[in-house]
Amino acid sequence: MAQLEQVASPGSEWWRTAVIYQIYPRSFADASGDGIGDLPGITARLDDLKSLGVDAIWLSPFMTSPQKDAGYDVADYRDVDPLFGTLADFDAMLDAAHARGIRVIVDLVPNHSSDQHAWFQQALKAAPGSPERARYVFRDGRGENGELPPNNWESVFGGGMWERVTEADGTPGQWYLHIFDASQPDFDWTNEEVREEFRSILRFWLDRGVDGFRVDVAHGMVKEAGLPDYAPVADADSMGGGEENVPYWGQDEVHDIYRDWHKVMAEYDGDRALCGEAWLPTLKKTALWVRPDEMHQTFNFPYLMTEWDAAALRAVIRDSLDAFGEVGAPSTWVLSNHDVIRHASRLALTADSPQGDGIGPKSKGKPDPAIGLSRGRAATTVMLSLPGSAYVYQGEELGLPEAMEIPDEFRQDPTWFRTNGERYGRDGCRVPLPWTASGTAFGFNDTGASWLPQPAEWAGFARDAEEQDPASTLNLYKALLAERRARALGSGSLVWDDVDAAAVAFHRGDLHVVANLGAEPIELGEGVTFVIQSEPFAGTALPPNTAAWFTRA
Ligand code: NOJ
Repeated sequence: MAQLEQVASPGSEWWRTAVIYQIYPRSFADASGDGIGDLPGITARLDDLKSLGVDAIWLSPFMTSPQKDAGYDVADYRDVDPLFGTLADFDAMLDAAHARGIRVIVDLVPNHSSDQHAWFQQALKAAPGSPERARYVFRDGRGENGELPPNNWESVFGGGMWERVTEADGTPGQWYLHIFDASQPDFDWTNEEVREEFRSILRFWLDRGVDGFRVDVAHGMVKEAGLPDYAPVADADSMGGGEENVPYWGQDEVHDIYRDWHKVMAEYDGDRALCGEAWLPTLKKTALWVRPDEMHQTFNFPYLMTEWDAAALRAVIRDSLDAFGEVGAPSTWVLSNHDVIRHASRLALTADSPQGDGIGPKSKGKPDPAIGLSRGRAATTVMLSLPGSAYVYQGEELGLPEAMEIPDEFRQDPTWFRTNGERYGRDGCRVPLPWTASGTAFGFNDTGASWLPQPAEWAGFARDAEEQDPASTLNLYKALLAERRARALGSGSLVWDDVDAAAVAFHRGDLHVVANLGAEPIELGEGVTFVIQSEPFAGTALPPNTAAWFTRA
């Protein structure tokens, strides 16, 4: 491993090196005071993101939606939900971001719509076999009277993947497919009308000036012809499945859609980008989404899912640079988002907690907060030194842990309801941000309302308090981002160093990066000048759960 030089893909497009900050609008900042964040709230906080030092923001969905899956159930792709504001608020936010040199990516949800979408409402009223039904995946049921679902597929959120409808004459009717909640019917992407509609939706937002799209469930839109039965192997039921061929994930034909969208993006100036959300079992498969004529980026979920283990972390970084490098794409790096346990908690889990299960009051193996925070900061210190593009999820720059004690009556994730509370789901990573240590809802708004309760101890993570503390997680992120920019770490190569079996160690020019994932201190030796320590320590022995950037005389 020592001295293997790995080169990130060359090229000047902004998305190859960008640090992109994910805003989960309902939990970012609430200008209206109704307890749910909104677009004017984002506009008011853009200076905080500028001073953090990010290049772009990605907004989770704010389009018209009944909010059955927090906006990932879209009823109108060309309008803003009144909860979040108006199209004029969106335009104002976009202009304000661009004025600060911050690019804006919006979330596109093409696998499914809301059941309140006009097309689905028309489909319900129309007859089996009609063009209205052909926009979704309607099938007759099995069994003597069609009383059994068309196949045995299971929803990602728990329960079956099919819902039976009542026909216009009041009789029990066909079934429709929904990979997620029953309120999220899947489109039929073999239908050209669906394809044309989404080209038009892309152009609607590109015409408004967005810099790109994060594409939801980018591996799920095409299903294997004939919809054959399939039961996932145990523990492989997450968004990617553990196996090579899952009839609703990663089908070859899905790539035709992205080749088509690549051309739509190229009609526009300014280097617009597509980023795929595709949970796939291997990096090699993941890299297929970013071949030169497809998407520009795809999330590196194998990296996100890597446990706190030095050999595993070295391997996933090496394999990521190889796999994405082979297709000429930048690797992305991501540790947290709105679907997974926050990494300041996840990296200290002691029990197996599969993606999507979440942690709640009755979970076993709750992570130690101090170890989790140290590992979280060290993991980010490694991530922001890597060549490629990195994603930061709102609140991780404050070191926020997963909110683990949300009472049942506040829970909103459909996973919780579809599994009768067996899986807590994702509410714990979606709690509104603390901006001020005192004041209502920790400065999230000025009324005190909050759609999920904020833990009292989050006063200690409030942005205004962390601004004042040189050793805070916020100031660590600021330092990492400023140094990453100054040293142009987003591009270029890395050279692996052989330091210790429990270390992840490499250098980028004269900058050395070492993380200690073991239980004993690692001596870094003579001539070390620290540039950044993931948390303060004296001397040159790197403590466990710590990382550092340094130069050597
Ligand atoms: C992935 C999104 O990130 C998640 O939040 C959502 O529930 C599913 N896709 C369904 O849209």
